[in-house]
Order: sequence, then C-alpha cells, then structure tokens
Amino acid sequence: MTAIIDVDRLSFSFGSGVLVQPVLKDVTIAIRQGEIVLITGPSGSGKTTFLTIIGGLRQAFHGSVKVLDQQLVNSDEQVKIKVRQQIGYIFQQHNLLKSLTALQNVSMTLEMGNTLTEQQRLERSAQMLTAVGLGDRLHYKPDQLSAGQRQRVSIARALVGQPKIVLADEPTASLDKQSGYEAVSILKQLAKESQTTILLVTHDYRILDVADRVVELEDGVIKAV
Ligand SMILES: Nc1ncnc2c1ncn2[C@@H]1O[C@H](COP(=O)(O)OP(=O)(O)OP(=O)(O)O)[C@@H](O)[C@H]1O
Ligand SMILES: [Mg+2]
Repeated sequence: MTAIIDVDRLSFSFGSGVLVQPVLKDVTIAIRQGEIVLITGPSGSGKTTFLTIIGGLRQAFHGSVKVLDQQLVNSDEQVKIKVRQQIGYIFQQHNLLKSLTALQNVSMTLEMGNTLTEQQRLERSAQMLTAVGLGDRLHYKPDQLSAGQRQRVSIARALVGQPKIVLADEPTASLDKQSGYEAVSILKQLAKESQTTILLVTHDYRILDVADRVVELEDGVIKAV
C-alpha cells in the first residue's frame, strides 16, 4: 500500500547566509493510511517545523514531501490549499473562538467550501461533539468549559470535516494526566473508525501507548524508538 505521507530526504533551514540554522536534516519517513504516529523529542528538535511542512503551512525547498499524493516541496499555493482542505489540525492551545459556542466553533469549519446546508452542518457538528462526550455542552462557550472539555471541542472541530489526516501539536500539554489520556483515546477511537491518519507531536510519555509507532526527532534527525 502506498504511503499517505511520504517524506524523502527532507531538509529545512531557517534564516540565510551566516545566520542559517539547519532544523530538519535528511528526514525520511513513510506513514500509511490509518496509522497513528507519535513524534517525540527534545525542545527545539524541529517537531513543530516538521508538522507545519507536512500540513502545507510552511514551504520546504529540499527533498520530497508527498502528502495525499501531492508534492509539497517547491509547491505552489493551490497545491498547499488542496492538501490543507483534507487535514484537521489540533494545537496545544485550543484556538477556539471565545464568543462562539462549542457547536458554532465546530460547525464553522464546515462553512468553507462545503455544500452542506446550515442545518446539516449543525447536525453533523452536534454528532461529533456528542462523540467526544460533549453532547450536553453544545451551547457552552469556551470560558464555561474545562481545559479538557475545550480540548475535546478542538478534537471535534478537527474531525468534523472528515479529514484524511489529523496533525496534532502537543494536544495534551495543558491537560492533567487523566484528561490528556482521555482526549487522546477519544481521538484514537474516532480516527480508527474512519481510517484517519494521525501524526501527533508530544512530550507526554503517558500517552505513548496509543500509538502504532513512535519516532523520535533529535536535532533534526528522525530515529525509530
Ligand atoms: N519562525 C522561526 N524562525 C527562525 N527560527 C525558528 C522559527 N521557528 C522555529 N525556529 C527554530 O527552529 C528550531 C526548531 O523549532 P521547532 O519549533 O520546530 O521545535 P520543536 O521541536 O517543536 O520544539 P518544542 O518541543 O519546544 O515545541 C528551534 O531551534 C527554533 O529556534
Ligand atoms: Mg513545538
């Protein structure tokens, strides 16, 4: 089976001239559809940079990065947009809009380039919030939710568009052990049901067992753990 994410000798640097700082060095990794891969490694080792390149949020120039059969290295904006539309993102900070309810935050994602009616968007969003255990919190705003509940809203928001890939950058960082584990378990369960691929960056050794595979990024170089 072909890889849904296929990275071959990717190198990436910040800066230029004497200030050039190599961040990713000849990174090669292939990830299959439905696989859950955790990336760990020291602070500054390039994890977030790697995730943003895979997600079409940052341009790379050296090597090959094929995501959903699109080449992202030296790609034009249209290619990156096409890839981004098939990816769900979860960040360390939940990034929910404070003035919107949980339901509105999730359904917003479906407004872009979608053919659903508003009623269908709301129904699908309510279903997804119910799936993450927030069926009784649909009309709560972020401030009225706990940190763990907010992160579950973020998970619902990332999954509601039925993405092929979910990219998560330290999604449990602001959560205690129990809610962190719960959030990631829910993410895993929903992803397995729909064969969604997950690439998740974490420092959190307590959640490593949800992974199919753990890789370590150290000083810009990938190592299998
Ligand atoms: N926008 C930027 N401009 C210049 N250098 C950057 C930029 N973003 C990151 N870097 C540098 O690139 C290196 C890798 O950063 P990155 O954010 O990918 O690390 P990380 O592994 O995600 O770290 P952490 O675990 O602390 O989140 C760091 O040395 C950082 O200083
Ligand atoms: Mg980071």
